[in-house]
Amino acid sequence: MPGHIAIIMDGNGRWAQQRRRPRMIGHRAGARAVNRTIEFCLERGIAALTLFAFSSENWGRPQEEVDSLMKLFLGALDREVDELHRRGVRVRFIGDRSRFSAGIVQRMDKAEQRTLANAAMTLNIAASYGGRQDIALAARALAQQVAAGTLLPEQIDEQLLGRHVALADLPAPDLFIRTGGDTRISNFLLWQLAYTELWFSDVLWPDFDATILQQALDDYAGRERRFGLTSAQIAADAAQGALP
Ligand code: IPE
Ligand code: IPE
Ligand code: MG
Repeated sequence: MPGHIAIIMDGNGRWAQQRRRPRMIGHRAGARAVNRTIEFCLERGIAALTLFAFSSENWGRPQEEVDSLMKLFLGALDREVDELHRRGVRVRFIGDRSRFSAGIVQRMDKAEQRTLANAAMTLNIAASYGGRQDIALAARALAQQVAAGTLLPEQIDEQLLGRHVALADLPAPDLFIRTGGDTRISNFLLWQLAYTELWFSDVLWPDFDATILQQALDDYAGRERRFGLTSAQIAADAAQGALP
């Protein structure tokens, strides 16, 4: 079982288009698929779920779509946080908050504070998030420490940079899922996905359900994660119970 699943929820627009409805109808149906997915992960005891809701590039969509997505986001924050809290979900947001309206930022902060001590599952919502921006901000934070004289350039290594990117306090995602048929990362968690198992589905996000998620989990269970080692080494380590 993966401890951490990261999902690019793609295909809302095409789902609506197939029904000759406005794209926003697809986004609304997508929000229902989010609820199903959270429910499933809670039932299965998945420790962390990270959902790509809105990328730093999505700000470039037609203003009307961006506005409707913000409205949907605001409504979801008002409606869903109570239930998530009741279910013991810790909610967090990653991405550039400065681009959201004050009302949205306030609700995000409130949801995080309110659910901070919950332990059933950590739900990370990537909103206004970009993987390159994530790494750039980590580099900037370290550069500021060097400039302040509290860090030597030689002390910068993978571990240190890795502690400054988003989700640094969680194990990296074990399983990445992208719906919608495209096989790309689209600037999602670039650093964090280095050794994540990737799984792609043609299913459009609003149609995502327990059956498809179960297919992803079954596939994942059959994979051998080698982390650069040989199969024989992995088998020996597993026999000794030495793998993380
Ligand atoms: C994903 O669905 C949701 C967001 C990016 C907000 P899309 O809106 O990208 O749907 P398609 O890819 O156009 O079908
Ligand atoms: C990725 O989907 C972002 C989210 C699902 C939030 P996009 O639809 O924006 O990605 P591209 O444009 O197909 O790469
Ligand atoms: Mg898309």
